[in-house]
Amino acid sequence: MLVGMMGVGKSSVGKRLAGLLHCPFVDADDEIERSAQMTIPEIFAQYGEDYFRDGERRVIARLMSEAQGNRVIATGGGAFCNAETRALILEKGIAVWLDSDIDTLVDRTARKSNRPLLRTGDPREILTRLRDERAHHYAHAPIHVVSANGPHAHTITKVLQGIS
Ligand code: S3P
Repeated sequence: MLVGMMGVGKSSVGKRLAGLLHCPFVDADDEIERSAQMTIPEIFAQYGEDYFRDGERRVIARLMSEAQGNRVIATGGGAFCNAETRALILEKGIAVWLDSDIDTLVDRTARKSNRPLLRTGDPREILTRLRDERAHHYAHAPIHVVSANGPHAHTITKVLQGIS
């Protein structure tokens, strides 16, 4: 289970990791959109963040309970900050906290503008605040990998070392 801030590279790292481990990759945000038949910005706009968090918890509970072999799952940036969702992840999976400096997060989130939480103000300020608020939640993950700006190869090596 890859946890950490938006823009840190959970999906890109997750896909490549799954390829190396010869197992499926699942993006929890995609699963939420599939179940809701709506995009994440639409869910936030129509029902609000609390509703989204509830759906996120249910989708992750389903993913964690499906009896399958190994899988790499990328979670949305807020998932691990919800106590119930975090408990599910910690109980059933290996949580890896991917972490980056703010410049990297700003850079990477600027490439994709589908994150409703970043639309409410200056992305750098929002990312800085969220990262400060969330760090103590992410720190519950047993494995902490710092991902530098640039190619993900080094990050992937560190994740593989962490989980082996
Ligand atoms: C969120 C991160 C997003 C998505 C939603 C909320 C967050 O996922 O779940 O926009 O609260 O940090 P990514 O981390 O994959 O961008």
